[in-house]
This record gives sequence, structure tokens and C-alpha cells, in this order.
Amino acid sequence: MTVKLIGVIGGGTMGAGIAEVCAKAGSEVLVLETKQELVEAAQQRVAKSISRGVSKGKISQEDADAAIARVRVTLDLGEFADRDLVIEAAPEIEALKYDIFGKLDEIVKPEGILASNTSSIPVIKVAGATRRPERVLGMHFFNPVPVMPLVEIISTLVTAPEIAAAVTDYAKNTLHKTTVQAGDRSGFIVNALLIPYLCQAVRMLESGYASAEDIDAAMKGGCGYPMGPLTLLDTVGLDIGLAAAESLYAEFAESHYAPPALLRRMVDAGRLGRKTGRGFYEYA
Ligand code: CAA
Repeated sequence: MTVKLIGVIGGGTMGAGIAEVCAKAGSEVLVLETKQELVEAAQQRVAKSISRGVSKGKISQEDADAAIARVRVTLDLGEFADRDLVIEAAPEIEALKYDIFGKLDEIVKPEGILASNTSSIPVIKVAGATRRPERVLGMHFFNPVPVMPLVEIISTLVTAPEIAAAVTDYAKNTLHKTTVQAGDRSGFIVNALLIPYLCQAVRMLESGYASAEDIDAAMKGGCGYPMGPLTLLDTVGLDIGLAAAESLYAEFAESHYAPPALLRRMVDAGRLGRKTGRGFYEYA
């Protein structure tokens, strides 16, 4: 089973990052967006990020131009019929994902594989919106996608082993990512370990025990983490962190997964982190 033609649903931070790594690896990528202005924004997001590599001497101008040309953003889901692998990176809203997977199932050729980049919704639930659940799996990338080496491959109870093998092969040997296999339970490997730590940092701040700056400086300087936990939440988005914590708590009902009130209130207030200009810190 060869994976060559890629579809990406959503051209936001994760979708654009996924499109970028696939295009740089030589795949033709079609990205779905929902509005004309978002089409242009997604195209520019990918082009800008790839071009940044040229000024840093990581990629030649010629290779960058070729990679940018391999990405096309469209409003028409009908164009996804010939895709070998479609990776959904839409907002973490269950009903929206079911709708997308139902439509993809109608449109994408029967042998096409459907993957979700979800970090909080059970993959079997989106698979259930299709008539090909054995060809549906999770393909979980990390932010920033062009930099983070890992992809978690999530097989549901019904994912066919050869489908997981084909997607693992693509992630490893074409995208040159590190892969790990995980079962279909909330948080997979990374978020099940990371989210309690991030929530604990918010609780520490909320209790007034230490400042945001000191919590972050402590974990950077004391543990060698590249970013402190509150900066990391600002980077991944507080809404994404909250959705992941809610999903873990719903699954396991263990108190260390319960989202802290401050995290909920900041999301209610629209302080989602870098993407809205303000989270635990302010961004210009
Ligand atoms: N896109 C592309 N490249 C980027 C980038 C981006 N958004 N952000 C940083 N980079 C590149 C920089 O260009 C730089 O490349 P060079 O070394 O070749 O110059 C490199 O990454 C390092 O960047 P900086 O020197 O600017 O800053 P840094 O040393 O702090 O590194 C970082 C930035 C790689 C993001 C690092 O801070 C880091 O690893 N942070 C932790 C990220 C993390 O934990 N991600 C997982 C989040 S959890 C998740 O995503 C899952 C979920 O479901 C919630």
C-alpha cells in the first residue's frame, strides 16, 4: 500500500504544519479550508514557514519553492477523492469531526486511509462515522509539527494492522518522524503524562504559591525542559490543553486530570495563549 497523495483537513497551526512536513517530504498535499480568506491564510502560513528554512540554510530556495508548489488549499472537499491518506486536523469539536469523517467516507476512494490528529476524542468514535472503520486510525502530531519528531499512531479495536503499518511506514520512512504505537484511550502516551503536569502548574499559579515566570524558570533550569509548563500551554493553546484535560478526566475520573478552574476561566475569557495574543503571558 503506497501513500503518496495526502489530504489535510484544516489549515490552522497543526494542519499547516502537517501539510508542510508532508510537502517537504515530497508528497502532493491538498488542504481543505472553509472560507476564501482562510484559504489564503493557510497557503501563506505554509509558504512562510517553509521559506523561513531558506534563510536559516536548512532548505535550498529551489527545494522550498518545489515544496510550496506541492501544497494546494481548496474549499472543495470533492477534490479529495483520489487521496491515499487524509489527515484531519479540524477543531476539537466531536460533532464537527463526525460530520467530516462521514463526508470523507463518501468522497475518498474506498482504499483511502482516514486519520485523525485529534488529541482528545476517541478515534473509534470518528471511525464509527464511516463505513470503513478498519481504515481509520489516529495520527497524532506535536506542536510545532515541523520541529517535533514524534507521531503517535493510534490503532482502534478495529483498525486493520496493515493500515497502521502503512501509516507508520509513511511517518517513519517518508516524513522521517519517530513513531510510537498506542491504543485508543484518552491522552494516548504523551498527553496522559503531559496534561497532569501542565494542570499542576496552573494549580500552583492559581494557589499563589509561585509566579508564572518562576514556575517556568524552575522547570527549564531545574529539569532541562525547553519551555516551562505555562509557556508550553500558551504555545499549544489553553483551549487545546483544556479539551485534553476534560477528555482525560471523562475517561479516567482521576483528580490529577481534572482541569483547574483558572484554566477554564482563561479559556472562557478568550485568553488562549499565543494565538490570541494573551494567555499566561502577553504577546505582541
Ligand atoms: N515552526 C517551525 N520551526 C520552529 C517553530 C515553528 N513554529 N518554532 C521553533 N522552530 C524552530 C526554530 O526555527 C529553531 O530552528 P533552528 O534551531 O534550526 O534555528 C528551533 O525550532 C529552535 O527554536 P528557537 O531557538 O526559536 O526556540 P527554542 O530553542 O525554545 O525551541 C521549541 C522552540 C522547539 C518549540 C522548543 O521550545 C520546544 O521543544 N518546546 C516544547 C514543545 C513541546 O513540548 N511540544 C509538544 C506540545 S504537546 C502537543 O503538541 C500535543 C497536544 O495534543 C497538546
